[in-house]
Amino acid sequence: MEKIDEAGRVNVVKHPLCEHNLSIIRDKNTDADVFKSALKRLGTVLILEAVKDLPLKNYPVQTPLAQCNSLLLDKDIRIIFAPILRAGLGLSDVAAELIPNASIQHVGMYRDEITLKPVWYYDKTPVEYSSPDNIRVFILDPMLATGNSAVATVSLFLKRGICINNITFVSILSAPEGILALSTAFPELKIVTAKIDEGLNSRGYILPGLGDAGDRLFNTFEK
Ligand code: URA
Repeated sequence: MEKIDEAGRVNVVKHPLCEHNLSIIRDKNTDADVFKSALKRLGTVLILEAVKDLPLKNYPVQTPLAQCNSLLLDKDIRIIFAPILRAGLGLSDVAAELIPNASIQHVGMYRDEITLKPVWYYDKTPVEYSSPDNIRVFILDPMLATGNSAVATVSLFLKRGICINNITFVSILSAPEGILALSTAFPELKIVTAKIDEGLNSRGYILPGLGDAGDRLFNTFEK
């Protein structure tokens, strides 16, 4: 990890619930419904970790008994979750449950099976954000494999004026190749993941991994 994370921005979350739920989603005999719920539990642990530095602000609160100063998420900071379609949808529900006022801005890319490069088909980000400095972006994709779609998505937010220090990439499983690609392109990017696996196969799948996360989530994989 030293070589690929000189800036110390890669956070591999150590938690028994990560290990436990990872084992469930890796198992090829796990059905789509159990896969979905285990992925959500993993997503909850990772998103809680990813958002732990969100700024708080003092707001007065009237309890039934007295007035007190309380901390709430700073209302001037806009939180954006950007799930990369389609597998990112497995994380966006838990993200929205944790921070219901967050904006969910989907981006869609499929992977060209020959070049392994991303091909854009959907982008729900605005052409311009009104106060980009007050935005925190959390990009959600369960699988950080080659890093190509991750790099394309981070580049999109940079193009929209968001500062790299305000972007976090959240993935469940990562390949060393993906971490290297992302952290070489953006050394200041924060990455939160549950595990760095062994590497990629010739088709760009993570080994040992869990197969195609989208197929497993949406039960579209042919056994
Ligand atoms: N996307 C997946 O869903 N699985 C992989 O192993 C790699 C990319």
